Amino acid sequence: MMRLFVALLAVCCHSCSASLTGFIFNQKLDHFTAGNNRTFPQRYWVVDDHWNKSSSAPVLLYLGLAAPFNGGMASYGIFGPALIEHSALGVGIENRYYGRSLAEDMLKLENLQYLTFEQSLEDTKAIQDAIKKNYSIPNLKWITFGASYSGMKSVIHRVTMPDRVFAAFGSSAPVNFQYDMPNYLGHVGEVIRDDQRGGSQTCYDNVREAFAIVDSYLNSNQLDVLRTDFNICSSSNATDDKEKFAIARYLSGLIADVNQYSFSNPAINTYAGICRPFTRPGVQPYDVLKKMLADSSPETCATISYQALLDDLNKWSNGINDWEEYDKDSGGRSWGFEICNNMGFNVYCNTTKGCPMSNFASQLGQSAMCQDAFGISDQQMRANSAKFLKTYGGANPLTTRLLLTHGAVDCGYPYEMNTTVENKEIYSFTTAYVGHVVDLNPATGYEPVALYETRKAVAQVLQKWVQDAKTAGSSQTYLSSVTIVFLVFFYSLY
Ligand SMILES: *[C@@H]1O[C@H](CO)[C@@H](O)[C@H](O)[C@H]1NC(C)=O
Ligand SMILES: *[C@@H]1O[C@H](CO)[C@@H](O)[C@H](O)[C@H]1NC(C)=O
Ligand SMILES: *[C@@H]1O[C@H](CO)[C@@H](O)[C@H](O)[C@H]1NC(C)=O
Ligand SMILES: *[C@@H]1O[C@H](CO)[C@@H](O)[C@H](O)[C@H]1NC(C)=O
Ligand SMILES: *[C@@H]1O[C@H](CO)[C@@H](O)[C@H](O)[C@H]1NC(C)=O
Ligand SMILES: *[C@@H]1O[C@H](CO)[C@@H](O)[C@H](O)[C@H]1NC(C)=O
Repeated sequence: MMRLFVALLAVCCHSCSASLTGFIFNQKLDHFTAGNNRTFPQRYWVVDDHWNKSSSAPVLLYLGLAAPFNGGMASYGIFGPALIEHSALGVGIENRYYGRSLAEDMLKLENLQYLTFEQSLEDTKAIQDAIKKNYSIPNLKWITFGASYSGMKSVIHRVTMPDRVFAAFGSSAPVNFQYDMPNYLGHVGEVIRDDQRGGSQTCYDNVREAFAIVDSYLNSNQLDVLRTDFNICSSSNATDDKEKFAIARYLSGLIADVNQYSFSNPAINTYAGICRPFTRPGVQPYDVLKKMLADSSPETCATISYQALLDDLNKWSNGINDWEEYDKDSGGRSWGFEICNNMGFNVYCNTTKGCPMSNFASQLGQSAMCQDAFGISDQQMRANSAKFLKTYGGANPLTTRLLLTHGAVDCGYPYEMNTTVENKEIYSFTTAYVGHVVDLNPATGYEPVALYETRKAVAQVLQKWVQDAKTAGSSQTYLSSVTIVFLVFFYSLY
């Protein structure tokens, strides 16, 4: 499940009036080797429409996704309103290796070594220093924001550079992703079984029944039947477990990926939408699955094979030779590398415990992909995961001032940090019945009351931190007030 949990935050700018200024930072490719002076263009954005410099409000920094980012953060829920409420300066940074923040040869295997958390944290420092200097704000505090992958990065920023990051917000931040994480897909089973969330035992049983048929075809090497039933055009080796994995992953995604889309409309319980057809009397569950596929995909048949999965990961491995074509990409190669190298996580079903979907969506596929695309062995993945959890703390990050929000129907929820520790100002808010990064949607009148309550709780914590940051930021009063007076004067010349 390579793409699960990357929320492609839709940039709907209908509610956003802020003007966005984009810049390119000449970023060092390798921050750690003296003498390596190579740079790449990194994109960042500044929103200063609401900024009142003399208010001393902290700078709010939105960290880009594991995908192209276009700096539209002022229209996001929580972030956009906080900019306005606190008259703050807003900054957004696109992650190295995503979108246009890279050079044409950086996706070659030998250059992926610079795609690490450590390098990316140094990127933030460099851009932060440039902004502090340009706007003459040496003493303003900074609060980082992010969602999903970048929510996790936000937490990591606070953990690793507390002197530069005053506090961190993360929506659906999977800080505790593991090499072994059967509860990711397992959580789907819990949700579709839960009548509070639009599921039911019958729904669960019928989904299981549909996939039992899928699995019986996979087990008996009858991949052709599945190809016909689910409009898959590629043919591949019917006895190869990796091909079975590719098909199992595709069909399981029909159910498992749903939580990703709840972002677009939190008013609709998408799991209820899945369970309705599966619980209609007199229908065959396998036929419902077939119909779901037919309804969700275009007329043309789909290319589903292990090779196709690898092709996605290997795209641009010889360098980017067509930027227009590249711009249509969602960053699959970089993201795949981060999974294998930086986090070493493996999403699969625990076949002993029972998978809600296909038992062939096992750990084999992910491990094989890491090996075949990047030469990263299963053993290395496990070591990478252990290092990631040890370095950044997993579910127990050694830090203070974290604000984490979760949607309880999200597959990643079991791997998020769900405890509040008052005396460290670590707050965790779970909203029942919503999915992944839903609170980053702009608030709407029709959203669940629980989500409205979460937004209120978040705003209260931010309010306090902004006050604390102002106090902390103005403790070096002499220098900052002199600078401020000077700049107010300077601006008045325009
Ligand atoms: C790299 O930058 C340093 C400091 O600016 C400079 O002294 C050095 O000569 C540069 N090295 C190369 C290979 O350009
Ligand atoms: C900006 O902040 C200062 C200090 O808090 C305040 O006195 C001033 O009224 C604010 N300006 C605006 C336009 O809100
Ligand atoms: C630097 O600050 C000025 C305002 O003083 C602003 O107009 C400009 O866009 C800023 N440049 C960057 C690169 O942030
Ligand atoms: C099909 O896959 C099996 C299992 O990996 C392998 O032993 C066999 O050689 C493959 N057959 C072909 C024709 O590639
Ligand atoms: C898989 O499930 C079995 C049975 O519940 C359990 O004993 C085992 O620890 C699980 N494996 C993992 C990796 O969670
Ligand atoms: C909170 O997370 C821990 C693991 O980090 C898990 O064992 C526990 O069940 C979770 N609690 C809730 C209410 O989800």
